[in-house]
Parts: sequence; structure tokens; C-alpha cells
Amino acid sequence: MRVVSGIQPTGTPHLGNYLGAIVNYVKLQDEAHASGGECFIFLADLHALSMPHIPAELTAATREMVATLVACGVDPGKTVLFNQAQVPAHAELQWLLNGTARMGWLNRMTQWKDKAGKNREGQSIALFTYPVLQAADVLLYQATHVPVGEDQKQHLELARDIAQKFNNDFCPEDAPLFTLPEPYIPPAAARIMSLRDGTAKMSKSDPSEMSRINLVDDADTIMKKIKKAKTDPEPLPSEDAGLEGRAEAANLVAIYAALAQCDVAKVLSEYGGQGFGTFKPALGELLIETLAPISARFLELKQDREALDAILARGAARARERGVPTLDAAYKALGLVRG
Ligand code: TRP
Repeated sequence: MRVVSGIQPTGTPHLGNYLGAIVNYVKLQDEAHASGGECFIFLADLHALSMPHIPAELTAATREMVATLVACGVDPGKTVLFNQAQVPAHAELQWLLNGTARMGWLNRMTQWKDKAGKNREGQSIALFTYPVLQAADVLLYQATHVPVGEDQKQHLELARDIAQKFNNDFCPEDAPLFTLPEPYIPPAAARIMSLRDGTAKMSKSDPSEMSRINLVDDADTIMKKIKKAKTDPEPLPSEDAGLEGRAEAANLVAIYAALAQCDVAKVLSEYGGQGFGTFKPALGELLIETLAPISARFLELKQDREALDAILARGAARARERGVPTLDAAYKALGLVRG
């Protein structure tokens, strides 16, 4: 079991990052560790260049995200935790794979279409080739499990296509170079929505602070945001089906279930028939209880820049070492001469 995943270093991590991605990293890290496998988690700082960015903010956000990951339970003793920029093999392998990836494949990527909108000509080339770097990220370590959200499934399929074509074009039939990676979308992958609009993902780019719970929000702020969260006047239903067409109610119940590590049915069996006047304070308390130790640890780690940089340096050294065999084999397969 070789777990590989990347997370963009967005500043101010929120509940959506935690329940949608980070908890799954921790679960898989522990599974991989227990079964003699390996886990690689990295900050996708090279991917951040695909959109306009402010250099100093990228630096700060990278350290902040490492602190977040560690505070949430990613253990640098069990996981190879690093940032792409310190492992040149990611960029090198991307270039090698650029010869295999097809324009037509990239043109079909929905993230590219969504982000570029009507202004394709004005986008960076990095935005277009973003999925090739992502393929390099996972193929470099021969990933078997790639924990991602639903929105990244297409990029993983592309990584499989690239791996397959490279294996076909450049490797003997009985000795393919690249392992075909599987997207691993955990059954309980919580897709956390905005507290103001149950149809939009919780996001740091939402202008309303009330739309999200930041991992560093204090108890009062969390309770206030939950109490003000948009809902409807009906009491909670007793069965899942009763949440249909009630996006905001469904989101709050899903958050509760994810935090309590149970399913939605269990939450409804407890709170069905009750109004939000009862449910919201219970949810608020559960959030406060879960996030308090995380934010305390985060704030402590954030002060210690040296410790954070040391974690990244150690992880990067390990990642560089682990990536060597595959990168070397890729150069060789392509007939490139190197000393
Ligand atoms: N594109 C991913 C996202 O936005 C981040 C990412 C970069 C990633 N490289 C990866 C995820 C490799 C999984 C594997 O969420």
C-alpha cells in the first residue's frame, strides 16, 4: 500500500479541508504504517503557480498548511511530509511526461475548463498542464492509493492514461514502469458545504467569514457561526430521505456525522423530530470539542518556524531518495543519456 496525496497550500485552513481531506490522510497513514506500506503527503506548492499568486503569501501558506497537517494528526514519523519545491523530481518527471500527455486529454479536463472560463488564451500554461504535474506527483512514488475528493477523480484518470501510454510506448510488455494509481475516495468523504449556501463548497475564497469554520476559530466564534448557519424552519427528519431538497440541513447533519464518526442515519435517529434550536448547539459543542486541541497545537506549531522547516527538510530528503529509481528509469526508458 503506497499512499500519495497532495494538498494545495491555501491559507487559513477550514473545516472543509479537515473533514474532506486531512482526516482521510490520517486514517490512511495509520493503515499504511500498520501494514508495512508507505504514505507520502506533500504541499502542492508548485501547483500554486498555475494561478496568480503573491510569493510571500505562498511561503506563509505553505508553513501554515504543514502546521495544520501535523496539528490534525499527520505524523512526520509515519508519513513522508514535504513540499514539492524541495523535490525537483516532480518537475523533472512532469517534463518527461509532457511528451506522453495529449493536448486533447488536457482540453477535456473540467477543472481547466472551469478555471479558464472564456479566457483560455489568457491563462498560464501551468494551469493547462497542471494535471500532468499531478500525474508526475503520484507516478514518481508508484502510488497505489491516492486519497482525493470527487473533483480530482478526472485528474487521477488522466494520470492512469498517461502511465498506461508511457508503459505501452516505452516499456517492455512484461516490465511496465508505472503503477496505475487508484483514486481513493473514502466512503465517508465528507463534502462540506458553505454554512450560508448548502449548494456551494465551503471555501476560503467565499467573501463571507460566516460561510466557513476556520480551524483556528475560538469557541464563541464557532458557536456563533453554527447558530447563524442558514437552515429551514422544519424539524430534522428521522430518515435520510427526508433531507432531500434540504441542502443546508443535510450539510449540518453531515458535519455532525463526520465529527462523531458515525453515519447520517445514526444522527437522525437521535435528532429526528427535533428543531435546529436543539441540534445547532449540540453540533456547535461537538465542533468546539473536536477543534480545540487542533487549534491549540496549530497555534503552538505556527510559532516554531524552525521546527516546521525541519519537518519539511526531513520529508523532502526522504522523498528525493524514494523518487530516484522511478525517475532514473523514466529517463532511461526515453533514451535520454545521463552521465
Ligand atoms: N489537485 C489537487 C487538489 O487541488 C492537489 C494535488 C496536487 C494532488 N497533486 C496531487 C492530489 C497528487 C492528489 C495527488 O486538490
